[in-house]
Amino acid sequence: MLNLKFDYLPSNLQEKLQQGPDSQGIEALEWLFDPKTAKNLPLGWFDWPLKDHKALIEDIKAAAAQIRSNSKVLVVIGIGGSYLGAKALYDALTPSFKKSEENTELVFAGHNLSSEYLLSLNQYLQDKDFSLCVISKSGTTLEPALAFRYLFNLLVQRYGMTVALERLFLITDPEKGVLRELAGQNEISAFSVPVDIGGRYSVLTAVGLLPLAVAGFQIEKILKGAAQARNDFDRAENTAKAALNYAIIRHYFYQQGKVVELFVSHQPRLKMLAEWFKQLFAESEGKEGKGLLPVSLLYSTDLHSLGQFVQEGNPIFFETVLDIKTEKTDLNVATGFFDDGLSYLEGKTMNFVQNQAFLGTVQAHVEGNVANLIIQLDELSEYSLGYLTYFFMLACALSGKILGVNPFDQPGVEAYKSNMYKLLKN
Ligand code: PA5
Repeated sequence: MLNLKFDYLPSNLQEKLQQGPDSQGIEALEWLFDPKTAKNLPLGWFDWPLKDHKALIEDIKAAAAQIRSNSKVLVVIGIGGSYLGAKALYDALTPSFKKSEENTELVFAGHNLSSEYLLSLNQYLQDKDFSLCVISKSGTTLEPALAFRYLFNLLVQRYGMTVALERLFLITDPEKGVLRELAGQNEISAFSVPVDIGGRYSVLTAVGLLPLAVAGFQIEKILKGAAQARNDFDRAENTAKAALNYAIIRHYFYQQGKVVELFVSHQPRLKMLAEWFKQLFAESEGKEGKGLLPVSLLYSTDLHSLGQFVQEGNPIFFETVLDIKTEKTDLNVATGFFDDGLSYLEGKTMNFVQNQAFLGTVQAHVEGNVANLIIQLDELSEYSLGYLTYFFMLACALSGKILGVNPFDQPGVEAYKSNMYKLLKN
């Protein structure tokens, strides 16, 4: 399902990986499996795919069926880990230009403070039946709270209070917080973000699964893919543990002064997956003056902008390239009407051209001393994306441990919040 390709890494790193994890890698592994770790840190995501989720899946499907029966659009309100996972998988699984007529469309809000965004969303919703799904573990985050106020007003104006409450779905802390209280007081449908699963590790819970079920995707397959990733990790010998190797590779580059990780994909549909990846790693590792800065690039688009820098600029980075082995669609290079010098490509397909561009880029960058790690995923599907997201969460936890930080907190995010609240209260 997923393969790490080491061919374009420096030879000494390849040798290191063949020898198996060093003491830091072993320590990180032991830490992850040590029951004491789960007692002290929010590690609920680690065993999550192995648990029995039948009841949760049934509840999610019932809520999704209700939303699908009466809504053209579900507005998913949330920010950070409460939004990026669903958005990433939704985009990765949805064709770039086609929003299926049969399925309820997902639209996201509450991840910015833009009045233009809300006003234009209001316009967009004018002729469409809609429901709201508010996702906030704490219930106190300002961006989604303000979007919720605005959009709930629209919902009440459109349908009246009783129906508006039926069209409202909450995903929040199982016990406390404003949204949980609201759910209790008004009998609103509510799902939980487990106490021991932090926002950016929550894509495989209702946080990701409810929106994706509404959009018509098979959520059992997402969980099955994640369970496979967990089982593969358990079964593999230490030298073959892909997530551990990825963590070790990242740390190797970090120690070499390659402080930026360029996360590269070649499909426009994966743009938001890269955003999810950036949030997962940046929020987990960027602390105590440490960490790799994750940056995302979409090729070949960015080869014509940042590509110059990657090839010849300040060499502070390495590339992690996501390669999808089998694309579901392909297209013949179109017949030319004019002499554009490209007739030699007739009879070839766009995927052939893309693959050659992929290889040519990797080779050029490696020749320019930019190491490339290729992460090859078999295909883009619910199953493979469940596998991939779990793989990244595992790798991120191990990588944070090797770096010597707590990969599950985000104390730095509070700084802007407290300044903003002070200013807002003045
Ligand atoms: O990963 C995290 O914990 C954060 O990105 C949160 O998901 C984000 O800040 C939103 O928090 P909340 O769900 O409490 O609104």
